[in-house]
Amino acid sequence: MTSSKPTVLVTRKLPQAVEARLDRDFVAHLNRDDHAMPKDEILAKAEGCSGLLITPAEQFTPAVIAALPRSVRILATFSVGHDHLDLQAAKAHGLTVTNTPEVLTDATADIAMLLILGAARGASWGERMVREGRWTSWSPTAPLGSDVTGKTLGIIGMGRIGQALAQRARGFDMPIHYFNRRRVPPENEFGATYHAQLADMLPLCDFLSINCASTPETRGMVNAGVIRLLPDGAIIVNSARGDIVNDDDLIDALKSGKLAAAGLDVFRNEPNIDVRFRELDNVFLLPHLGSATPNTRTAMGMRAVDNLEAFFRTGNPRDRLL
Ligand code: DGY
Repeated sequence: MTSSKPTVLVTRKLPQAVEARLDRDFVAHLNRDDHAMPKDEILAKAEGCSGLLITPAEQFTPAVIAALPRSVRILATFSVGHDHLDLQAAKAHGLTVTNTPEVLTDATADIAMLLILGAARGASWGERMVREGRWTSWSPTAPLGSDVTGKTLGIIGMGRIGQALAQRARGFDMPIHYFNRRRVPPENEFGATYHAQLADMLPLCDFLSINCASTPETRGMVNAGVIRLLPDGAIIVNSARGDIVNDDDLIDALKSGKLAAAGLDVFRNEPNIDVRFRELDNVFLLPHLGSATPNTRTAMGMRAVDNLEAFFRTGNPRDRLL
């Protein structure tokens, strides 16, 4: 007897409650041991599937999308970001694509605030000193970090996460400025000042936080020209996507002292990051933890499954990108 349940491939292990729902409502090919699936395995396992539940750990390039079996009708990504999949190619292939907005806003904004605090106050070098037994004495003059309270924060990208960061930064009495394609409604600004031109905001920023999506317009946007306009000793934090920053320019500025520090949760070519970051003392590095809490990851999974279910039931998933 053939099942009336849609068949879906799930590329990574998901929180237990999400997998239980997938097992109940779909013929689900799960990734029980959570291995990183190479593209050939994805393409082979996608054979006969109607949908794929994918993650930012896989690259759905035009070539991969073109090679997908015709049975596949929807890609539901377990992420708000969708730079790992080529929307144009997906459109040409006739695919529906969904993401998981909203449910990871707070967790990601928490990490952005952690990056600000950790980069400014030397959480990384401080921790290493203690762990490695290099902390020999308390001293009034060294080592020292940078103040956070009362310092000015500039936010690139005032979407949900940028707004949630502004809300948090208010608790640190930080004057807040933001650069966005357009001004957001005043009730979503949390007292932040809008700049239509990035160059106008940069000289004001003791901290610059990157919270925009990675798009052709933003890739490489934070480069030497942008860094030059920041005050000497500014701090850059990135909880959005690594490719928005030009790594060479960032590393030069961290080495020269133009920037006091950086806090990075995301990198170009994750997890194979530019090895030079590992050598720098003034960077606070995290392994893309923005949404990494059980509640958030479960909510993301449920949202992705909601989208699959709605697609197969009504053809109209809530978080449709295509
Ligand atoms: C996303 O959802 O895009 C995040 O980067 C995952 O943490």
